[in-house]
Parts: sequence; structure tokens; C-alpha cells
Amino acid sequence: MKTLDWRTDRLRIKALLRADQSAGEVFVQGWLRTVRRSKGVNFLALNDGSCLESLQVVVGEDSPAFATSESLGTGCCVGVRGTVVASPGEGQAWEVQAAEIIVYGQADETFPLQKKRHGFEFLRSIAHLRPRTNAFGAVFRVRSRIAHAVHTFFQERGFLYIHSPIITANDCEGAGEMFRVTTLNPENPPQVDGRIAWHEDFFGAKTGLTVSGQLQGELFATAFTDIYTFGPTFRAENSNTSRHASEFWMIEPEVAFADLAVNCQLAEDFFRFMVEYALEHCQEDLAFFNQFIDKGLLERLENVVKTPFQAMSYTEAVERLQKSGQKFEFPVEWGCDLQSEHERYLTEQVVGGPLFVTDYPAGIKAFYMRQNDDNRTVAAMDLLVPKVGEIIGGSQREERLDILQRKMRAFDILPESLDWYLDTRRWGSCPHAGFGLGFERFLMYITGMENVRDVIPFPRTPGNARF
Ligand code: 4AD
Ligand code: MG
Repeated sequence: MKTLDWRTDRLRIKALLRADQSAGEVFVQGWLRTVRRSKGVNFLALNDGSCLESLQVVVGEDSPAFATSESLGTGCCVGVRGTVVASPGEGQAWEVQAAEIIVYGQADETFPLQKKRHGFEFLRSIAHLRPRTNAFGAVFRVRSRIAHAVHTFFQERGFLYIHSPIITANDCEGAGEMFRVTTLNPENPPQVDGRIAWHEDFFGAKTGLTVSGQLQGELFATAFTDIYTFGPTFRAENSNTSRHASEFWMIEPEVAFADLAVNCQLAEDFFRFMVEYALEHCQEDLAFFNQFIDKGLLERLENVVKTPFQAMSYTEAVERLQKSGQKFEFPVEWGCDLQSEHERYLTEQVVGGPLFVTDYPAGIKAFYMRQNDDNRTVAAMDLLVPKVGEIIGGSQREERLDILQRKMRAFDILPESLDWYLDTRRWGSCPHAGFGLGFERFLMYITGMENVRDVIPFPRTPGNARF
């Protein structure tokens, strides 16, 4: 057998397993998922993360690698040189008969992933090792693929990708959920008249981590027409739910010359494109989720691709909830914010699929949303989906300077503090609209995983920023 060079000849296990014919002599590298010993032969399940399936490596007694294979256990990192042959066993087309095994890293029986299945809660406590499980292998392959799908969708449609800033002085959503960014001495900050002198801080102002790239996105939309952002956002919101993370990724398109209807259509097209993309490019991983995590997943995703989304106004949604006869923890009346129990009821029970709720009361939405002619609602939309609830939030923006200024004052936002934002309304203002899709919420939807902590590599939630 010729000598294979590990730097150049390594074959990805996915390529080996998917090949129509034997890949011949190969060199593969990865981590052992299991080691099974039987009379005179050891079976190693080798996984390199390229696909869900592991490669069966067979080491017979007569192989020069047999002695080495005797010392191996779950978790070891190895390289295997051998020959690909058709597998007589069930479940795989090809296996490798090992001629040589290089051990890079041993792992003894204290390696925590010995059992086949572990609870997600336990796996969260070893977030540094969980990528080496089937479920998290699948989650992070899908995450990577879908991130690519985001760019594909917008780039194919001529949208400009903008990198909105992470550090900013403005709280876009106005909910006061910003993490502070400061270099002032926390023990003894400079003060003027008993108040912290933020103007002496690093940026000469009070700054924090962004809660949304929207306001900057709007500035770019008034130059490039169609733009999107895709980056991390941060919210110091103390809500310990399965759908809230303190650090999450958001995709925010912003489109000039668009109203709420155009915005909803874009959201629907985008959503459907991403689902179709996942069905086409993540088949093996989605089949895994369908089998082990959420039995109805594939059927639900296939239906979403075929069925137009429904829409109803907030006012109608409130009426439907009130008439439902359903007991909710939070009672519903016009003017209240919809709670997740209401959102789930609407999307799961009332329409049984994705639902746009539009035209919310002005008082419960952000200052930048465009006032409707009824003077009490704004041109807002939320997209609600079964199992997740709110997955997209968006609106047409208030492009009329005087109304926007009035609105800001009503919301206790000093117009001077956002003079740069208002400049777009002063010079060349245009109707425009946009939305934000929570990337993790979308991943929950597409994988059936029920906790936001299980679709992001290293979750940040209140009380938890280890790793
Ligand atoms: O509804 P939100 O707060 O809207 C905005 O931030 C707008 N500036 C978007 C825009 O119009 N450009 O957030 C948008 C989406 C939500 O629908 C949800 O999917 C997700 O972001 N999201 C979160 N995801 C995980 N953890 C959190 N704490 C989230 N908060 C919002
Ligand atoms: Mg929202």
C-alpha cells in the first residue's frame, strides 16, 4: 500500500460514504464515537463532523493496526489508513479495513460522552464537548448551511450586505435592554453633580452593545435601496425562557420604496426560501431531527413551502382570542401586548401555520413604526409560527419628519439624541420598511429543537456565560 500523506490526502468521511464506487486506499481522520470489540476484530465508529453518519473502521486480528486498536475507546482522536470495501453490515454502503492507525489523542473512560444518548440539559453543561454528539453535529451543520442560505437569498436579489456596528450609543428598540460598554472605573467613576460623567467615557458618550442594526440599516437603505444585516445582537433582558438568549443573531433587511405589504411578501419569500434550502441541502440532518427530536417536522416544513401564509390584523387577533373560550394566564384586551401563549394559540390552533399579525396599537411598538391613518395603530407586522411563536418582527418606518419627532417625544426619546437618524427624514426621505428574523428562532423552527440554548454554540443567558 502506498504511503498517504495526512496533510494532503485526508478524505472527508462524507465524500467517502457518498461515493458511487470504492474510494480505494484512503486516509481518514476524526474522533471515535464508539469502539466495539468482538472475537478477533475491533469495529471503530469514526466521525469527522462532515456528516451525521460515522464511518465503520474494521480492524482484524491480522492487521498491523490491531494492537493499537486494542487501546482505543470512545472519544479518541485517530487517523486511519486503509482500504474502502463494500460493507457486508447493515446501514452503510462502505467501510474501511484498517492497515495503520495513528493515535493523536487518547481518551479514557472519564470522557463524558460514553453513553449513546444524553439529556440536552446535561449536554449544555458540557457545551465544549457537545459538538461531538449526533444531535449537535446536526444542529451546527444546519446552522452553518442556513447562514449561507441567508446570504444566497439576499445576494441573488441584489441586496447590499452591511456590517452594522456592535458598539453603539442608541437603543433602537427603546426597551432599555442594552449591555453597557465602558472603560470607566466601576469602583470610582468620574461624576458631575452626583451623576456619572459619561462624556468622560471611552467614546465620549454612554454606549452599549447593539440590540438591533436597524437604524443604521435604514441609513444605508436610503443610499443602496435594498440592504440587509446579519450579525450578533445583545439584549440584557432578564427573561429566562426557552426562546430568549442574551446574545443572538439577527437578519435585518431594509428596503426603500416598500410598504407593509411588500415587507410581508419579502418576509414570506425569505422564510420559504430558507425552508426549501434546508430541505434540499440538509436532508440527512433533518431526517435525524424528524426521527429523534420532532416526529412531525418534515411534514410541517414541506407544508410550509406549499401554503401561502395567512395574515390578520392585531384587532382581529384580539377578537379571535377573546372569542376562543380558551383560558389564558394573561387576559386579552385591545391594547395589550400579545404574550407567547396568545401567539402560540393563534398560529397553532387558529390557522395551523405561519401567521402575520399586522397593525398593532402604537403604544406597544417601537417609536420608528409608521403611524396608520386611524392614528392609533402602526404599520407593524409580526410573523408567528407553530412551536416557536414570534419569529419575525418588522414594520413600515415613519418617514414623515414631523410625525416622527412628535412620536419620539411621546416615547421620551430626545430627538436631538438621534439627529443623524432624523437627517434621513430631512433630506430625501422615502417610504421604507424592514424586519428582523431571529436566526436562533428560525433554527429552532427548522430543527424542532425546543430550546434556544441548543441551537447556538455557546449560549449566553442570565447567569450563564461560561465557555
Ligand atoms: O422584534 P424585535 O425586537 O425587532 C427588532 O429588533 C427590529 N429592530 C427588527 C427590524 O425591524 N429590523 O426582534 C426581531 C426578532 C424577533 O422576532 C425574534 O425572532 C428575535 O429577533 N429575537 C430574539 N431571539 C432570541 N433571543 C432574544 N432575546 C430575542 N429577541 C428578539
Ligand atoms: Mg418583536
